Amino acid sequence: MSAVEINPEGPNHVAIIMDGNGRWATQRGRPRLFGHQAGAKRVRQAVETCPSLGVKYLTIFAFSTENWKRTQSEIAGLMALFRRHIQREANYLHRLGTRVRFIGEREKLDIKLQKLMDYLEKLTENNDTTHLTVALNYGARDEVTRATKRLAVEVAEKRLRPEQVNTEVLASFLDTYMLPDPDLVIRTSGEARISNFLLWQSAYAEYEFIDTHWPDFTPDVFASVVNRFGGRDRRYGAVKA
Ligand code: FPP
Repeated sequence: MSAVEINPEGPNHVAIIMDGNGRWATQRGRPRLFGHQAGAKRVRQAVETCPSLGVKYLTIFAFSTENWKRTQSEIAGLMALFRRHIQREANYLHRLGTRVRFIGEREKLDIKLQKLMDYLEKLTENNDTTHLTVALNYGARDEVTRATKRLAVEVAEKRLRPEQVNTEVLASFLDTYMLPDPDLVIRTSGEARISNFLLWQSAYAEYEFIDTHWPDFTPDVFASVVNRFGGRDRRYGAVKA
């Protein structure tokens, strides 16, 4: 990639809705899975690019709670791709110093995939170069619902009093309890929707909706979106003096 200077005011945490794999493949007369395979290669590049952009946390939306509505063959293909990708990339991600974590409801995923996810999290748990979080079977409403259930148990069993519940306490029950909030959310492929991604965490994030399909998301595209962020004036609801 071209050399980019790190902007000290750039985003610390970038979250990406990786959209457009299917359309990218269809435009080439290829099956949708071909697009997902091309997309997986861009995931590797995006992780490699983070340190040079000053991005410490990268969170990617790999499979949503709504994606189960796709055809059985696409779902099976995606799950096989996730398994293969973890098997192939684990050592490389580890060498890069990437800490990998997963968010979402993992119990619904096949047991082989769950074991690989656990393995990769454990392998990379002491790394700190880039924190990659993969949202797999993730939906923000599902996450908040699961968090609320656990919180309700704490209250019912009297480990927590209702008046102690505040935004920090609720956030600590979310899948993302260990992450800072995203500063920048990017969605590729032209749609201007959030699609149930990190709804609570992105309350003050900046959004970038770009036309590029995910398989065309090169390090240069990543750099240009991140560099646009530096020019923004974030006030978090306050008025700047
Ligand atoms: C959205 O494109 C993409 C997905 C639902 C899957 C994302 C998966 C990858 C990028 C594969 C690799 C991921 C990892 C973590 C290895 P779409 O199928 O919705 O595209 P469309 O809107 O054009 O149909």
